[in-house]
Amino acid sequence: MRSVYLRGNDAPRHPRIFKKRIRRADGGIRPGDVVAVRTADGAFVGRAFYSHRSVIAARILDRDEYGPPVDTEWFAARIGAAAALREALRLTDVTDAYRVVHAEGDGLGGLIVDRYGDVSVVEVRARGLFEHLDEIEEAVRRVLGVERIVVRADARVEEIEGFVAADRCASDVRTIVTEHGLRFHVDCSQGHKTGFFVDQREARHLVSRLAEGRRVLDLFCYSGGFALAAARGGASAVLGVDLDEAALALASENALLNGLEGVEFEHADAFDVLRRAPPADLIVLDPPKLASHRRELDRARRKSVDLNTLALAALPKGGLLLTFSCTGLWGEAELVGHVREAARRSRRFVRILRVTGQPPDHPVDVECPESRYLTGLLLFVT
Ligand SMILES: C[S@@+](CC[C@H](N)C(=O)[O-])C[C@H]1O[C@@H](n2cnc3c(N)ncnc32)[C@H](O)[C@@H]1O
Repeated sequence: MRSVYLRGNDAPRHPRIFKKRIRRADGGIRPGDVVAVRTADGAFVGRAFYSHRSVIAARILDRDEYGPPVDTEWFAARIGAAAALREALRLTDVTDAYRVVHAEGDGLGGLIVDRYGDVSVVEVRARGLFEHLDEIEEAVRRVLGVERIVVRADARVEEIEGFVAADRCASDVRTIVTEHGLRFHVDCSQGHKTGFFVDQREARHLVSRLAEGRRVLDLFCYSGGFALAAARGGASAVLGVDLDEAALALASENALLNGLEGVEFEHADAFDVLRRAPPADLIVLDPPKLASHRRELDRARRKSVDLNTLALAALPKGGLLLTFSCTGLWGEAELVGHVREAARRSRRFVRILRVTGQPPDHPVDVECPESRYLTGLLLFVT
């Protein structure tokens, strides 16, 4: 096993090793190879996938210099441990759509495995994972016993990591999942993320329990998750809004699938809809990631404050706002700050009733806080 050497003799516990921390690498390392990461004086830190092009030059696989080869058995053991954790969480009591592998949160940096009933979607975000796709697919099949596996990779990641997964990706795999009694069509090949926002399962359930008799506005509704949960919970009126027509087509199909035809969907910009202040007692704001880089944070912050200001202004006294950030660079404190500013601007008083976030099938390694990305606040507005 070839080695890469860090600057300095501190052994990092973080599973991502950034390019700037690497002083030199042995000759002959190919992109995606398993390497030994060592401190400057040669002490072993961990085995890692190496990426020549990425700023994340090495992703730690394990801390065992003489561990077994990184092959199908190795992946099956890791994915098996992650699957056993989900079993212990008893997720299948309420759904057949959940995350089986959450990258660093499950000791598999760069790998996402979501399960949608008999389909599993595998998303790779590192060159080393791409080089081991056959082994990963075999391990997933073995551990989960799924009939179909869909491989996905983000074009920007492919560019950064230097691989092309297109000929591994099926283009038309769809399935139907159940979550808290609601059924959803999932487009595993073309849908956003891996096809469904499994990370909002608990928040959707919260909305179904709050919705009775309320007029609900689900902004950024994607395939209608919050809207349908609200309708099932007895909302008096529900409007879902999204800019993506394919997502809205799925949302309408999902309404039909659940016999909730009264739910309305509109193709529109969420900001425009809020500016016309439609009647609502409960608003859900679940925007996409507003910033991917630190340099985008100022603009993103303004957007988040504007969005929350418009939503608070649209609500009557006693209204509820469930507002989210999936921008991993922000945590709870930042989102509370945006809401505070929005409350002042909209001349509302706001109390936090609950702080929510990603559910336990999205674990966070305390050494890698970046794997925590979703924060939600349930607000009472007066
Ligand atoms: C995080 S997802 C929402 C997930 C959804 N709440 C669920 O539970 O499935 C963000 C959604 O915002 C939509 N979107 C992005 N910009 C938008 C805008 N300006 N107005 C309305 N929708 C937008 C995207 O098409 C995407 O469906």
